[in-house]
Amino acid sequence: MEAVGFIPTSQHPVLTNKTVTWASPSNIALIKYWGKYDPQIPANPSLSFTLNHCNTKTVVTLVDKSVVSNKSAEVFSFEFYFESAPKPDFHPKIASFFARVVDYLPFLKAHHIVIHSENTFPHSSGIASSASAMAALSLCLLELSNEFPPDDQNVFSEAFYAKASFLARLGSGSAARSIRGPLMQWGKTHGFKESQDIVAVPFNQVLAPIFKNFQDTILLVDKGEKVVSSTVGHGLMNNHPFAQARFQQAHDQLAVLAEALVSGDMETFIGVVESEALTLHAMMLTSSPYFILMKPGTLSIIDKIWAFRNLNHIPVCFTLDAGANVHVLYPEMHKVQVLQFIENELVAYCQNGQYICDQVGSGSISHTV
Ligand code: DP6
Repeated sequence: MEAVGFIPTSQHPVLTNKTVTWASPSNIALIKYWGKYDPQIPANPSLSFTLNHCNTKTVVTLVDKSVVSNKSAEVFSFEFYFESAPKPDFHPKIASFFARVVDYLPFLKAHHIVIHSENTFPHSSGIASSASAMAALSLCLLELSNEFPPDDQNVFSEAFYAKASFLARLGSGSAARSIRGPLMQWGKTHGFKESQDIVAVPFNQVLAPIFKNFQDTILLVDKGEKVVSSTVGHGLMNNHPFAQARFQQAHDQLAVLAEALVSGDMETFIGVVESEALTLHAMMLTSSPYFILMKPGTLSIIDKIWAFRNLNHIPVCFTLDAGANVHVLYPEMHKVQVLQFIENELVAYCQNGQYICDQVGSGSISHTV
């Protein structure tokens, strides 16, 4: 699959004045994407659980540009509202996303685009919303392009979802994985012939039953602005002394994890997932300049999870994003005991005692009526 394959070869009558709506979930990487090349090509493969409740819902309407704006044909014209309030701060990010995708969505410059967006999770919770936001926006724009109209039951084709993932990736790498679920793989790696650098694809094997409705309770340790953004962090993998070893490790760990996901071998699953989380942060600790996104509470929680697991033999483990929050992962059958443990021992490390209960989900949903 090549990027040029996503450039439309014929003109489609775009859906002017129609409003479309998509809800896209956040995702949590088990094998971490950290390091990239232009244009948004991952330096190593990644694998993620798609979440269910943490969503961005986006509503987009295309308006004929000549009706509302005197902007030239060369300039993007759009409005962006977050939770009904205009948000000019987001304009540069949206404009640069449009510039990256305009070859693949050529109608963008000819229209005025009205975007309304909201999250189901609290904003400034430290949960990255770029994945769900870019996925939902890409799906809306692609539906409006009318390049892959749905069938009579409103079912979209594989080609539609592949292009949506391609577009979302150009907005934010991890967004490529938020299009579908429950487990998404992004980045070429041997052993998975469907794997691609330019789109994320659903993991092609049957998951062991233990992973059905797998739980992710997100402990909000620090809700503040990150000291180093993911985009800057990725850049620090260029010339990183351990980069090549890390990239190779991601391929190797992905192969091991894939087997555990099929067999249900929880010990291996836990070993790989925690190693990936700690390696991600080890890359930050050893970047130049170095930085730390974990907080003391992050480490205390990890310690407590290890002690709980050893004592109770319950297969609960953690992973980390590029931030201080801890994702506690465990099978649904242990939900009662783990939530009790979180309430008793971990909530003390959460800002304002806040955490979010989520679980693995099946991907983006159209709400277009
Ligand atoms: C640590 O997708 O946020 O969450 O492509 O620059 O937008 P950009 O970065 P982003 O990076 C996510 C990094 C990560 C790991 C992961 O999700 O795989």
